Amino acid sequence: MPVRALSRHPDRTPDLGPHVEPVYGDVERPETIASALTGVERVLLCANSEDLTAREAEVVRLAEEASVRHLVLLSSLGVELGAGSGPVHAPSERMLQASSLPWTILRPITYMTNTLRWRHSIAATGTFEEPSGDGRQAMIHPADIGSVAAHVLTTPGHEARTYELTGPEALTSAEYAAKLSAALGREVRHVNIGEEVYRQRFASYGAPPSFVDSLMTLYALVRDGRLDMVSPDVENLLGRTGRTFDEWAHANAGAFGIGG
Ligand SMILES: NC(=O)c1ccc[n+]([C@@H]2O[C@H](COP(=O)([O-])OP(=O)(O)OC[C@H]3O[C@@H](n4cnc5c(N)ncnc54)[C@H](OP(=O)(O)O)[C@@H]3O)[C@@H](O)[C@H]2O)c1
Repeated sequence: MPVRALSRHPDRTPDLGPHVEPVYGDVERPETIASALTGVERVLLCANSEDLTAREAEVVRLAEEASVRHLVLLSSLGVELGAGSGPVHAPSERMLQASSLPWTILRPITYMTNTLRWRHSIAATGTFEEPSGDGRQAMIHPADIGSVAAHVLTTPGHEARTYELTGPEALTSAEYAAKLSAALGREVRHVNIGEEVYRQRFASYGAPPSFVDSLMTLYALVRDGRLDMVSPDVENLLGRTGRTFDEWAHANAGAFGIGG
């Protein structure tokens, strides 16, 4: 199916194949969204903004005007948990449900890609620091979010449904470290640190306090074992188990800058 892929940097997108048309679009500039929606029947809305609720509301309004037939919203498992980016996404979910558009909501857990946040520390010391204790979470491969979104957009029966998306195995940070060790060909260790130290680290990088606060609520759930679960939704939708962290780590070892 022909796909139009919006980006603020369409010239920098990788080769997405002959059926994908990269176009410029910025949710901070609604006129770029309006023109990109011309002739579009189905939308996956994946955005980020300081003012996400207002920006996503504008996209939904423009999609209604463009007579879009189905809008799939990329939200967050945090909505269910009342943690992480949940409070940011919850108003968008309610707004979409109140719109005239047929909708589906995808609520993913932490992306495997987030482990790239550790790359400088791993390159420098062979360690990464997180206040996750021995808690587990089943991070998801971003390609599985894409696979689920494509499936939901191209097959019937998903309207007014909310899917929770996790990876296939709930692991501790020490277990993620062991898998990275195997993929990178050098020992990687998780160092558990207290919330205050972590908070100071992030503040020193210039991260907004609200972002650090949302991360802290997520780590508290990880430590308490409340994210020690695997949702059946990816497997039920795709008819196969989700991609593993081993797969992600081996494919992305080069991005850690230390071979693999
Ligand atoms: N990372 C996680 O663990 C996680 C977990 C659950 C839910 N989520 C949610 O998933 C979404 C993406 O998260 P992420 O971590 O991948 O964030 P990210 O790295 O900031 O990705 C942002 C994505 O949104 C697009 N985007 C950002 N600002 C935009 C704008 N002004 N107009 C149009 N597109 C814009 C970017 O495309 P271009 O740069 O190409 O324009 C990119 O595809 C967010 O809504 C986030 O809350 C993330």
